[in-house]
Amino acid sequence: MVPVEKNFVNNMFSVEGKVALVTGATGALGSVLSKGYGYAGCKVFMTGRNEAKLKALEEEFLAEGIDCAYCVGDPAIEEDVKAVIRACVEKYGEINILAVCHGVNKVQNVLDQSVEDWQKIMDADCKSVYIVTKFVAEQMVAQGKGGKMVVVTSQRSKRGMAGYTGYCTSKGGADLMVNCLACDLTAKYGINVNSLCPTVFRSDLTEWMFDPESQVYKNFLNREPIGRLAEPSDFVGYAIFLSSDASNYITGANCDCSGGYLVV
Ligand SMILES: NC(=O)c1ccc[n+]([C@@H]2O[C@H](COP(=O)([O-])OP(=O)(O)OC[C@H]3O[C@@H](n4cnc5c(N)ncnc54)[C@H](OP(=O)(O)O)[C@@H]3O)[C@@H](O)[C@H]2O)c1
Repeated sequence: MVPVEKNFVNNMFSVEGKVALVTGATGALGSVLSKGYGYAGCKVFMTGRNEAKLKALEEEFLAEGIDCAYCVGDPAIEEDVKAVIRACVEKYGEINILAVCHGVNKVQNVLDQSVEDWQKIMDADCKSVYIVTKFVAEQMVAQGKGGKMVVVTSQRSKRGMAGYTGYCTSKGGADLMVNCLACDLTAKYGINVNSLCPTVFRSDLTEWMFDPESQVYKNFLNREPIGRLAEPSDFVGYAIFLSSDASNYITGANCDCSGGYLVV
């Protein structure tokens, strides 16, 4: 008898009925992943600091039949994160999936950068990941059913770049944090923690890089075997995979989703 269960294989990518908490839900990727989870049948609980954007997303998704809600909060502030988790559990009873999609960058040469500016990036991109994953982990452990965490970092976690002492350091820290969280949380509590590491994808901040005539775009394509820069929707499948039973044996992984950037 070949030891694989038909029922498991038929359902292993399903996240239907799961509660997904998405941070940075107002952003280019966070909004698309939120909708993607919603289309896949999740109950989607969104958070971010911008209430107007969260409300607009909620209206759009509800009109599409997606079960969703939001709570305003700053992911780097402990009390905000605890309040977001409480609100999510009050609304949906539990949290099964966490997708960390918030983040920021301010490009500055180290010589022009103040310690305060560097710290702001570290707080927004690294400390916040600790706070969000720690308190969601506590909630998941209390539920006793395991869970899945997907932390969006960057390929900049593995490569230095001029003006990126804050961003690369914080993303590298977040990737290592994911390795450690897996050690703390997977074997004992069934919580898988992985990161998604993209290169450039389309957002308000990166739109200018998508001009096919620009040198930046041409330089990027030389490093992208896949032949184009990414759209946020390119990561929906990977995030759902890492949130589903299909990835039960994957944890602590910093998952490349760069279109082949690292192979050139
Ligand atoms: N775009 C790319 O090319 C690219 C490439 C690699 C990795 N990434 C990473 O992928 C993630 C999503 O990127 P994105 O392009 O979707 O970004 P985005 O459109 O700028 O959205 C990011 C969200 O993060 C929140 N945010 C911004 N500054 C913050 C701060 N100081 N503290 C806490 N939250 C803050 C904002 O939501 P609120 O204002 O509502 O809080 C914002 O909507 C980020 O971690 C980013 O670093 C992006």
